[in-house]
Amino acid sequence: METKLFDRDTVATAAQLIAAGEVVAFPTETVYGLGADATDPQAALKVYAAKHRPADNPLIVTVADPAMVARFATITPAAQQLMDQFWPGPLTIILPVLPGRLSKVVTGGLDTAAFRMPANALTREMIRLADRPIVGPSANLSGKPSGTRPEHVLHDFDGAIAGILADGPTQVGVESTVIDMTVQPPAILRPGEVTPEMLEPLVGEVATDHHKVGAKETPKAPGMKYKHYAPTAQVVIVDHPADWPQALKWAAARQQPFGVLATDPVLMTLPAAVPTYSLGADLPAAARNLFAGLRWFDLHPTVTLILAEAFAPTGLGVAYMNRLLKSAGNEHFNPDEN
Ligand code: TXA
Ligand code: MG
Repeated sequence: METKLFDRDTVATAAQLIAAGEVVAFPTETVYGLGADATDPQAALKVYAAKHRPADNPLIVTVADPAMVARFATITPAAQQLMDQFWPGPLTIILPVLPGRLSKVVTGGLDTAAFRMPANALTREMIRLADRPIVGPSANLSGKPSGTRPEHVLHDFDGAIAGILADGPTQVGVESTVIDMTVQPPAILRPGEVTPEMLEPLVGEVATDHHKVGAKETPKAPGMKYKHYAPTAQVVIVDHPADWPQALKWAAARQQPFGVLATDPVLMTLPAAVPTYSLGADLPAAARNLFAGLRWFDLHPTVTLILAEAFAPTGLGVAYMNRLLKSAGNEHFNPDEN
């Protein structure tokens, strides 16, 4: 299959492919998604196949507007308030589905489904033209960092999907916040740019049990660490800015080619010989560039160890650290042991 690139001028062709049951990747403000007709189980199955993802994980239903949600789910008053306030934007809302409206290929057999209206106008145009919602898991092979640029999507899916609606790099860089509005108190299942502090004025106290999403993906064998978003090289997190000199010494002593993934203030203090990828100037830039950085090291396979910069787990830092910890399989540099 030839994977075609679409843009503003050819979005109608992309929409036709969606309506015809094909898989077309699409941009959002968070990461690229793999789109297919959410009302066609055969089309949704193609998305799992392309990702090499087990078909028991529920998919996000991506809509062009809140009215599209009403065709499939019960919109509670609190959910309506969230949509009014945060849509379009990086908040995915789990709602009770109306019986029989969505295939279990999409819901994973649950009586709930996740809905998201992304900020990218071109994607909403494609969904509107296709006149049906699209499933939208992140556009990456299962286990790999989510794709945040068209070239990432092409790298993982060239020849395997019908097309890519390309609209440059994404803005937020980490996937949407997922909030379950079918439980009391509402539960944040995945941290993202929309934080509990932003949600609580509207819906009251929220539970932040970040372990629920992906719970099915627990390690298969004892001692095997669960990794997601993982490059081939081992990622090791450097928690405090003051630890860098010691961490560099430790890495060099292992006689293992290593690289550094960090923001400019850290990179400026490093010796020139170390391969580095800049996360940019600050936390928003680091969130935007994290997955691209992890992927960059996969293209430089001589590096087998990546020292990566931590951020304090507040605000957007919660989402950044959630992804970084998974990519590292929870490995931290420990200055007391080294
Ligand atoms: O930012 C995003 O949300 C991106 C872009 C492309 O929209 N999409 C994305 O999709 O990250 P995905 O499939 O990689 O992540 C959706 C998460 C999954 O971990 C899934 O298990 C969870 O949401 N999820 C979906 N439906 C659910 C449900 N009914 N109950 C609980 N969790 C659900
Ligand atoms: Mg994903």
